[in-house]
Amino acid sequence: MMLHIPQVLTAQQVAHMRQHLLSASWQKGVVTAGVQAAQVKHNWQLSAQLALAQQLAQQVREALLAHPLFMSAVLPKQVLMPLFNCYQQGGHYGNHVDSAIHYDAQTRLPVRTDVSTTVFLSEPDEYCGGELVIEDTYGCHEVKLAAGDAIIYPATSLHRVQPVTDGQRLAAFLWSQSMVRDDWQRHLLFDLDMTIMRLRQQLQDSAEVVSLSSHYHNLLRQWAEL
Ligand code: NI
Repeated sequence: MMLHIPQVLTAQQVAHMRQHLLSASWQKGVVTAGVQAAQVKHNWQLSAQLALAQQLAQQVREALLAHPLFMSAVLPKQVLMPLFNCYQQGGHYGNHVDSAIHYDAQTRLPVRTDVSTTVFLSEPDEYCGGELVIEDTYGCHEVKLAAGDAIIYPATSLHRVQPVTDGQRLAAFLWSQSMVRDDWQRHLLFDLDMTIMRLRQQLQDSAEVVSLSSHYHNLLRQWAEL
């Protein structure tokens, strides 16, 4: 499932991050790519060792964990620390699939990457190109969102970032392991959760709403791995 999550970061948070990111020292993104991805990755990344990167990453992570849409759609078990990237002067990232396992920088424990997230930090009219293109069974989807908005998509999908031919595209990106490994099951739970929320607004906690809620929780109980 692909989902646009609006306003993960406020305009003030974006402005604050960008101010720090512009004066940061960037390194070539290829240093964290796997063997296949390294062949096609042409961008810049902030070293995760930098105190600044860790501080900003923590803000992005906390904002996502506080967002009800992210929580409902990802059902996170572990959310890795976000990284920051920058595309400019033709920078791009060709078709690739994200590595299945990443190691948590602090605990060194393996985390399965079920869901990929990109949080846009530049406005769409500040750069040309730079669309995130995600391929799924329904075809190719081009994503270019407002600064502060996020897209989540299955980490299993092939995806790429089109060349940025003018301006600069700043973003944060991260991976999560979900309590529910299967994308279709997560999608079903998310749709059910959203439907229950809308019904509750119309009907309050009627017997039917309570019954549907119990189905939601019992399905989650069946499918969640802890
Ligand atoms: Ni990727």
